[in-house]
Amino acid sequence: MTVARDRSAADAERESIEVDLLLEAIYRRYGFDFRQYARASLRRRLWRRVDLEGLGTLSALQERLLHHPDCMERLLLDLSINVTSMFRDPTFFRAFRTKVVPLLRTYPFVRIWNAGCSTGEETFSLAILLREEGLYDRTRIYATDINEEVLRRARGGVFPIEKMQEYTENYQAAGGQAAFSEYYVSGYEGAQFDRSLLDNVVFARHNLASDRSFNEFQVVVCRNVMIYFDSSLQDHVHRLFHESLGHLGVLTLGPKESLAFTVHEDAYEPLDAAEKIYRKIR
Ligand SMILES: C[S@@+](CC[C@H](N)C(=O)[O-])C[C@H]1O[C@@H](n2cnc3c(N)ncnc32)[C@H](O)[C@@H]1O
Repeated sequence: MTVARDRSAADAERESIEVDLLLEAIYRRYGFDFRQYARASLRRRLWRRVDLEGLGTLSALQERLLHHPDCMERLLLDLSINVTSMFRDPTFFRAFRTKVVPLLRTYPFVRIWNAGCSTGEETFSLAILLREEGLYDRTRIYATDINEEVLRRARGGVFPIEKMQEYTENYQAAGGQAAFSEYYVSGYEGAQFDRSLLDNVVFARHNLASDRSFNEFQVVVCRNVMIYFDSSLQDHVHRLFHESLGHLGVLTLGPKESLAFTVHEDAYEPLDAAEKIYRKIR
């Protein structure tokens, strides 16, 4: 049952305090920091979890979260929207091929941070592209996400068979050079992607809101992640990426994301402004 929630100003104020307390509790108990996520969608997701757990209030949810880590895992899935696909936004991957790959050829070894990789479709897409460009063998991709469950699925490399038509079209539109079906075998559980595409991939849990940088990279791919963050958390993550990128390193964002009005707006120049591909210049 969904409880009706018409809110007076006083109710809204009280609810806002309850949300603050709940997020603080999650942060202290588990270290996941959602305190600066955009509020409207966060609030919707929390109430949805209240309903799904058969509870009536946010404080009841807080109580359950504190004592039941499995409830926290469920909420984590609710809060981190994991929608993704292979060669998502094919024009981006085409631009990566034509504008970023030539820069990468100048390095003896390439480190890429795929932050917010979700279930791995983006990581596999990068691996396929780099292999076709003859760069994969000297690349290491660090693919990270806050959510252990999506990482588990990413390591499995099995994606829904009914998606293969769409992914094949994306791959071709992105400038793919082979028959896409060469990269997977169809099985009972879905399309199992070539395991060797993961030879140079490390999947690891990393929270952009609270964890530090862990290497120096030539490329950071972080697409469709920061749209869920408020501007101060976006600034924090941009600081993290700026310190993680080497000189002339490349930062790529999602179509609805931008460097404009962030702390590091002037530290990059566009390599392809429409595809949100930037190069660090200072
Ligand atoms: C919409 S998916 C984007 C996946 C992929 N980058 C793409 O564009 O298709 C957003 C991902 O960001 C992850 N995420 C959300 N908050 C995060 C955080 N604080 N640190 C790391 N990853 C986070 C979510 O778990 C989710 O898998």
